[in-house]
Amino acid sequence: MGHGLLSALNAARSSATPGDADEQGAIIALDIRELSAEIREQCDQAFVGDVCDHALLERLLAMYEIKEIYHLAALLSTRSEFAPETAHHVNVGGTLNLLHLAAEQARSHGRTVRFFFPSSIAVYGLPDLATKHGAGAVTEQQFCDPHTMYGCNKLAGEHLGRYYNHHYRKLAKDRFESPVDFRSIRFPGIISAETMPSGGTSDYGPEMIHAAAGGREYRCFVRPDSRIPFMTMPEAIDATMRLMRAPKRSLTQTVYNVASFSPSADDFAALVRKAFPGARISFDPDLGRQAIIDSWPETCNDQAARSEWGWTPMHTLSTAFSEYLLPTIVGHYERSSTS
Ligand code: SER
Repeated sequence: MGHGLLSALNAARSSATPGDADEQGAIIALDIRELSAEIREQCDQAFVGDVCDHALLERLLAMYEIKEIYHLAALLSTRSEFAPETAHHVNVGGTLNLLHLAAEQARSHGRTVRFFFPSSIAVYGLPDLATKHGAGAVTEQQFCDPHTMYGCNKLAGEHLGRYYNHHYRKLAKDRFESPVDFRSIRFPGIISAETMPSGGTSDYGPEMIHAAAGGREYRCFVRPDSRIPFMTMPEAIDATMRLMRAPKRSLTQTVYNVASFSPSADDFAALVRKAFPGARISFDPDLGRQAIIDSWPETCNDQAARSEWGWTPMHTLSTAFSEYLLPTIVGHYERSSTS
């Protein structure tokens, strides 16, 4: 998601009018791996490093006057279940470090720092399938009892953000009120035509499509009737940009659901088979990963995002395929087979 966001931030900056203060300024990237030359071009500076590296963050604090932070570093839900303590260290420790950096920036420059935190439908934990089927579109306040370490970490990040936004250093005499303008979206599974996810539990959606486009067989790790919300990568980027550009006065929450489409795994398979008649897809559920999917809601209520900052989905499952996934993915695999 970081790569798509860098392009969007860069495009917004290129088309900004001279008086548009929100869009000015340099774009500084921090990634655990070296960025590709194409992505690197979208930023003014790129650092290779870890959000858990205090010394590096101190250096950034000293070098730049930071106005906005987009914190996308995380270990996803499946990977986190294999190393829960490491996940906590990266997912919560990294978030705390960046919130602290934001608060220190605000204090030294006398200006609130806007902070984006991608949360997840993994913060929800529905106790059983009957409850999931009967729950309807869950609101931000319902069923926040995550079953995974990743979900616990994301919920912790949301609470830390709310604390830095409203209550940071409550008892300090030299308190800077609201140093961090924290804004978060609970994303559903995200499907990109460009990149394959790794380490997530919603990965069966994108994996099925990429396997068919690449001519590979796919054994889906959840039952055909499994249903959770998904959206395309361009929708996730659009939502992030909209929320970060919304005037503070129109926001009543720090965390928002967004919803687009909610297909079953079988709905995915049907569309993939239609688009790629030779696709070989079978279902071979993994009980552990299935239980995680069964604890996530079928749909989310996104009324607040719609009314407060103009969130509107761009796609149904069918248009996501016809207008975004297929045109991009087919070109992508054709290029890689000829290179
Ligand atoms: N895509 C994430 C995962 O599967 C959920 O937000 O872990």
